[in-house]
Amino acid sequence: MFISISAYYRSQNKDFTLAKGDCLELLPKINFQFDMIFADPPYFLSNGGISVQSGKQVSVNKGDWDKSQGFEKDNEFNYKWLSLCREKLKENGTIWISGTYHNIFSVAQMLNELDFRILNCITWAKTNPPPNLSCKFFTHSTEFILWARKNKKVTHYYNYELMKEINGGTQMRDLWSLPAIAKWEKSCGKHPTQKPLPLLARIILASTKENDWILDPFTGSSTTGIAASLLNRRFLGLDKEEDFLKISKNRREEINDIKTRFEYREKILKYSDKPLKEILEVHEEIPYYDINLPLN
Ligand SMILES: C[S@@+](CC[C@H](N)C(=O)[O-])C[C@H]1O[C@@H](n2cnc3c(N)ncnc32)[C@H](O)[C@@H]1O
Repeated sequence: MFISISAYYRSQNKDFTLAKGDCLELLPKINFQFDMIFADPPYFLSNGGISVQSGKQVSVNKGDWDKSQGFEKDNEFNYKWLSLCREKLKENGTIWISGTYHNIFSVAQMLNELDFRILNCITWAKTNPPPNLSCKFFTHSTEFILWARKNKKVTHYYNYELMKEINGGTQMRDLWSLPAIAKWEKSCGKHPTQKPLPLLARIILASTKENDWILDPFTGSSTTGIAASLLNRRFLGLDKEEDFLKISKNRREEINDIKTRFEYREKILKYSDKPLKEILEVHEEIPYYDINLPLN
């Protein structure tokens, strides 16, 4: 395994690596294939709307990276990063992509064009969505997460039994009621579109095994990587904004403290009919990995 890019940060136990740059440029230089990819790409929704945060009216503008460049260019962007990600997946690997109606139909179309096989479209129903200020249409309370496998002919990993167990003994459905981001998850700074850890924990547990490698090409504050570390998986995250990589680094260093690590594990594993912490093996120590992504 060989990587010709520099690490921005790597954790002491080598389970968590970050690199700074545009994923369209970094991905072709990464000569490695991952077990799973989670991507939370630009939704293209920063176009002047308003929302509510902590009871206050706020702009929905997340940053220049989230502005639409028009139908053709947005499609082209989704095609490009998805095709690069496809090359970085193992033959039995899977990819998850989050979105709203602004981007998710384009992503689904590109997945089909690139010969992925779409496995599910999860609806994440937020248990505590922000209210709708205009009172002229329904309150936005859902996001979608497409799950697809690379190869139509090669079967993928799905932890069916675990998902069933945490769903009270019946098959886990594609409608997940989980909370929006909580205050404790922002202890290392704020990212405008940070995903909640319990959501990423479910995704990781459903589609990976311990020690598997996970890639996030739009890592932001690295919710994917933090959930991966808490669940003993390995992680590479890419982002072009240094401010967000700093938050990611601080979040990873925060869970070097074993007490915080256990506290966060408990928090992320409680959202199920049968609390996951009663099912999963508990490791008393943070695992150390000899093999890592060799970076310049
Ligand atoms: C939706 S946010 C991801 C948030 C993340 N899931 C979290 O929980 O914090 C998308 C991130 O992608 C980054 N980004 C946008 N375009 C990018 C690109 N072409 N290459 C790398 N990063 C990019 C942005 O800086 C932003 O932090």
